[in-house]
Amino acid sequence: MAPVSLQSVSKVYANGVKAVDSVSLSIADGEFVVLVGPSGCGKSTTLRMIAGLEEISAGSLLVGGARMNDVPARNRNMAMVFQNYALYPHLDVRRNMAFGLERRRTHGSVIKAVLSPSYRAARAAEQQAIDTRVTAAAATLGIQSLLQRKPRELSGGQRQRVAVGRALVRDPVAFLFDEPLSNLDAKLRGEMRTELRLLHQRLRATMVYVTHDQEEAMSLADRLVVMKDGVVQQVGTPSEVYGHPANRFVAGFVGTPSMNFIQGSIEAAGVFRWGGGALQLPPTRWTGLSGWHGKPVELGIRPDQIRVGTGSCKGRVITVENYGDRMDVVIESGGRRITSRLPTASIREGSETTFEPMLDAAHLFDPSAAGATLA
Ligand SMILES: Nc1ncnc2c1ncn2[C@@H]1O[C@H](COP(=O)(O)OP(=O)(O)O)[C@@H](O)[C@H]1O
Ligand SMILES: [Mg+2]
Repeated sequence: MAPVSLQSVSKVYANGVKAVDSVSLSIADGEFVVLVGPSGCGKSTTLRMIAGLEEISAGSLLVGGARMNDVPARNRNMAMVFQNYALYPHLDVRRNMAFGLERRRTHGSVIKAVLSPSYRAARAAEQQAIDTRVTAAAATLGIQSLLQRKPRELSGGQRQRVAVGRALVRDPVAFLFDEPLSNLDAKLRGEMRTELRLLHQRLRATMVYVTHDQEEAMSLADRLVVMKDGVVQQVGTPSEVYGHPANRFVAGFVGTPSMNFIQGSIEAAGVFRWGGGALQLPPTRWTGLSGWHGKPVELGIRPDQIRVGTGSCKGRVITVENYGDRMDVVIESGGRRITSRLPTASIREGSETTFEPMLDAAHLFDPSAAGATLA
């Protein structure tokens, strides 16, 4: 295993698309890092550059301190797991898992094999070692009973395990995953997330994982890398990214339901004024607001930080989604819709209500394009 480091890495495709724009990132030995962002933001391109499947246009890739830009993929010893699993349909599970190792082992001619007993013995020992590793990986993933089956005889989740198993047997310097759970149904996806976390705990391997699903990213990552338009927006632990988003994009991307954004302005004396009234901001929460007096800002507040049935804001409940253990209530107020997530309560659609954002947990954003968080 080895640390992986990207230094101002960029990718410009032949058609002129700048898919990745000066990404810098240090992944520690044994860390589970998840690249997350909307479709087209450059996640796969970044991963493929690490794997050596895509040429790096500018910048450096270091693995264990060595520059890898010009090292071909087959010599990087990275194991990649793809969304579509990329299993060989005509090979059984054992052969699928052994494929990479069998291909790598020393090749000799048939004549040599026939004439040289020592060569035959070495070959047999090599095959034995491969079998042992496949058996061990299959045990780790709980697929021992499937080794003789062909991919078409497996469920989606089982195929997924075989694809992971194929990566596992190679003992790579890093595991690279590109949306490996996207083809599974929601329940199985949840189970596989747990298994991948457990696998990581057991192997303590360097893992770089790509997904567009922020919930999956949060659940798996030691650290998240949030990307947009080829540019890293924020790097941090799930709680850092959730609790201290660097900008409006990250704030809106992470968390379900999404953060509410309310346009307004700052009045002197730390009052936030919007279409639904005026809110006194807690004086200790922000230190640099004096420069914003009289200017437009956006207030961000997560749905679980809005109380309903109390407070100075007024609105009308337009929809209620009841999940049994909680409910999402959409309130129309001051010309906008605000979502609140609450423990279940008797709130009726169409009723008038009061509500109150818990301003200690609110965020303020510069409403200009960059949407930086105000401190
Ligand atoms: N082979 C390619 N040639 C040209 N443009 C590409 C190629 N692959 C991806 N792109 C473009 O690069 C950008 C990033 O793509 P990708 O890395 O696949 O994003 P993601 O994995 O985050 O969805 C997109 O605009 C995509 O259209
Ligand atoms: Mg992709």
